[in-house]
Amino acid sequence: MNLWSDFLDHNERIIHKWKHYFPIYERYFSEFVYKPVTVIEIGCGRGGSLQMWKRYFGPHARIVGIDINPACKKFEEDQIEVFIGPQQDHGFLQSVLDKVGIPDIVIDDGSHKMSDITATFKFLYPLMLKNGVYLVEDLHTAYWEEYDGGLCKPSTFVEHCKQLIDELNADHSRGALEPTKFTSTTLGVHFYDSVVVFERGTYTRKFAPETGGKMNKLEWKIRQKLGFGVQ
Ligand SMILES: C[S@@+](CC[C@H](N)C(=O)[O-])C[C@H]1O[C@@H](n2cnc3c(N)ncnc32)[C@H](O)[C@@H]1O
Repeated sequence: MNLWSDFLDHNERIIHKWKHYFPIYERYFSEFVYKPVTVIEIGCGRGGSLQMWKRYFGPHARIVGIDINPACKKFEEDQIEVFIGPQQDHGFLQSVLDKVGIPDIVIDDGSHKMSDITATFKFLYPLMLKNGVYLVEDLHTAYWEEYDGGLCKPSTFVEHCKQLIDELNADHSRGALEPTKFTSTTLGVHFYDSVVVFERGTYTRKFAPETGGKMNKLEWKIRQKLGFGVQ
């Protein structure tokens, strides 16, 4: 199923998404299709996106909507649950996780306010499954005053992400930056227009072996054991 054509054909509840998000969704979400995944979307809007995720991820998916607006409760149907509360409230988020378990995917399309995005990310991201994906959309708000944004303003989520790039590379900082849990559980941070995607995963030992040339198998094994070629 192609998510973009599904969106164009959709005639149920209203969905509101930028068109260039669709290839991004497919790039990071396709491996979860038809799996028994838990997907949390923060921000239910008019309910259509929850229906779209349900169709896309298939019959085993549990789609969880979070919204501050009590009217969103009416979007519940088979496979779709909605929890009412503020995304930035860690106690509320914990109560949701107590009911639905740890999510495979989080999509933050909620308030788009900088402090809310950061508070939500700081709570949910470290708790996610080891191969989880965390996607924040509509980050153009990081440049807009009415969402507490502003170019290079330290409190925006985009600035927070810039620091996380250093944290991602902390193992190579020669002691300048202590590696964190984020360092050891994040494979990638991907930036797009208005979107950032965090790809979780754990590493085996990080080293940069050499191969080829005249090296024989025994030498290769010894070098590997001793960690030669580590940079
Ligand atoms: C952009 S709409 C979501 C659109 C929907 N995901 C879609 O794709 O069609 C944003 C939603 O976030 C909700 N919202 C705003 N502030 C919130 C907060 N602090 N916590 C949770 N939800 C919030 C709003 O009520 C609104 O329904």
